[in-house]
Amino acid sequence: MSVLLAAVFIAAVPTVLGAEYDIIPKPQSITPVVGVFLLDGSTTIDSPADDRSREIAEYLRDAIRTQTGISISKNKTGNNRIEFRFDPNIVGDEAYRLTVSESRVVIEASDSKGHFWAVQTLRQILPSTRGEVVAIPAVVINDKPEYAYRGHMLDVGRHFFPVEFIKRQIDLLSYYKINTFRWHLTEDQGWRIEIKKYPKLIAVGAWRKEPDGSTYGGYYTQRQIREVVEYACVRNVQVIPEIEMPGHSVAALAAYPEYSCRQKPLKVTAEWGVHKDVFCAGNEHTFDFLKDVLDEVIELFPSPYIHIGGDEVPKDRWKECPLCQQRIRSENLKDEHELQSYFIRRIQQYLESKGKTLIGWDEILEGGADRNVVVEVWRGNAEAAKALAGGHRVIVAGPFYFDTPIKNKTLKEVFFTDLTSIPSYFENRDLVLGAECPLWTENVTPVNAESKLYPRLQAFAEVTWAGNGGSFDDLRRRMAAHYEYMDLLGIAYGPEDRALAEYGIARVPSIAAWRLTGVKGFKDIKFRYTTDGSEPSLRSRSFTDLLDVSRPALIKVAPFRNGRQVDLSKQFALTANAAIGGSVKYANPIDTRYAKAGEAALIDGIVGSRDYNDGIWVGWQGADMDAVIDLGSPRRFTSVSVNFLQQSNSWIVLPRRVSMFASEDKETWVELKTIDTGADAMDMDTSIRTITFKQPKSITARYVRVNAVRFGKLPAGHNGAGGESWIFADEIIVR
Ligand code: ACM
Ligand code: ZN
Repeated sequence: MSVLLAAVFIAAVPTVLGAEYDIIPKPQSITPVVGVFLLDGSTTIDSPADDRSREIAEYLRDAIRTQTGISISKNKTGNNRIEFRFDPNIVGDEAYRLTVSESRVVIEASDSKGHFWAVQTLRQILPSTRGEVVAIPAVVINDKPEYAYRGHMLDVGRHFFPVEFIKRQIDLLSYYKINTFRWHLTEDQGWRIEIKKYPKLIAVGAWRKEPDGSTYGGYYTQRQIREVVEYACVRNVQVIPEIEMPGHSVAALAAYPEYSCRQKPLKVTAEWGVHKDVFCAGNEHTFDFLKDVLDEVIELFPSPYIHIGGDEVPKDRWKECPLCQQRIRSENLKDEHELQSYFIRRIQQYLESKGKTLIGWDEILEGGADRNVVVEVWRGNAEAAKALAGGHRVIVAGPFYFDTPIKNKTLKEVFFTDLTSIPSYFENRDLVLGAECPLWTENVTPVNAESKLYPRLQAFAEVTWAGNGGSFDDLRRRMAAHYEYMDLLGIAYGPEDRALAEYGIARVPSIAAWRLTGVKGFKDIKFRYTTDGSEPSLRSRSFTDLLDVSRPALIKVAPFRNGRQVDLSKQFALTANAAIGGSVKYANPIDTRYAKAGEAALIDGIVGSRDYNDGIWVGWQGADMDAVIDLGSPRRFTSVSVNFLQQSNSWIVLPRRVSMFASEDKETWVELKTIDTGADAMDMDTSIRTITFKQPKSITARYVRVNAVRFGKLPAGHNGAGGESWIFADEIIVR
């Protein structure tokens, strides 16, 4: 480097000293020192000779080249150098000291984990300027994590995420010192890991039929899994697989129904929620099968932990299964809860025999669990207290569900989530391994996952590495640099405290049109839409805040930002309806929770989707629907139709009987149609039933009445047995 150039940098020193650092998570201590280290092509890396140290040096060399364009020398003898040293005095598995002085950069740790985290810190203080030489301000950073376990779980069962997506997230987990990627590989809706001994797990279990008739799915080959594990390992991230049992296993049982209680064919389900078909705990072959599966899983994942799920296990099938009942008797178990405990214990003992520790969701405590299992707490502080009282180590996930809408779990709320404020955690600090932020993917795909993960993941990293007590303003100040970094990488992060995109739709009588409004989470979002049922793309027409639609159409809309779609599309079905502009009176008031669109929602031409909570459906619980529409004046029509929703998991059941009537004066009614629907509360598939009256000859009437008789009390065996069913209706269409 020329003397002149050096002088320029040295002149810059006073502004560097006292500079505020943007490091996330915030290190335990940062002490700026006078001077700069000049990194250039002559800089060398001096590191220990073991394989991992060499790997870390190579990672650092690559990172410096990517960030600055500088290729540092492989020659170890230079004066200007980055030096890695093992120092047993630096206490803690992941602790490190990073010292930048004018003459060198020294990275000290008692093991290579600390060395690697120091590299991630160095990347964050290394200027992202391209040139022959970059100046790193002199500093001493002493750092170590507050919690040993800092994880992120991704559910690849509900939606599939390609290997490239996973690797990109692992890069970021590592950048933020999150040391665990929890791969939730099996679900009711999809089995995603190749198991050689049971090929149908992927041939059958990885694929489901969607409501629109299409096939959805995907899986990872064992080669791809090894590739991801290796990729993560280089980056100081352990990968812990989750193989769900005994519940959340419909996809596995669709492939091998012989391990279910009923031993009857099942389909990989496309319905979210909790499913009753679970592994049979009475059948020895179930355990043989699971051991075989775990044998292959153990081969693929070097982590000391294996997660086996264990959550949300309905006991219905076990109650009626002779094998399960036989097991309860032969093992002297009290009930099905103890059968769950028996199941988990057997798996735990098997894993232990292979040198692995079992992690399970907090339901594994049902009926008691071996003290050595690790409990992942999701249902709340009571479960945490129970686990800790039993001497179990815990991982806290409940407060960090990133599938929660951003406005209900803001960046600030994540930042201020303080585990030690909960007495049982505080009192049993040694048993609290750390925390995990799960991303469940019922409504998440690679399109919108990053908007849910970031920037909340940065706050999560800060809380789990640095602990609580920091300043939120300071985090936000530091985030500026991290938004720049994510922009550079093309990460589609979300807003800090509001939705990426929200919509409103209403019929506006004054303009005789529907008005679709879009509320943007970022100013530079553009809404793009189609009217032919296709997915919006970058070439679709756009609007910025609102769109008026005067003709019936199927609108699909999605937000776009930085040249890509950033959230899933939403669909609005607008239909011609002679009742639009009329009024409706209800004999029984609509439930206020499902009356967002107002009294006229049933006749506004906006048709409810498969999502009962879309704000468009109108609902009644424990009451019949009895709606009288006033068309305003006598009108001619040939058809009346009405849609009802069935989603029995949410207690929404078709009405038993539907009748339609017409009247000129609201006194004399003519019956148009009455139909018994054959409603079945035990049918758990979501569906929309349209009841239609239609005749060739037109009718003239001013009033139309639709009466729907509720299903009533939910039957035994239903998750809401004894409770009152709901009727969900939308829309009543008169034509
Ligand atoms: C869970 O959310 N079912 C662990
Ligand atoms: Zn059984």
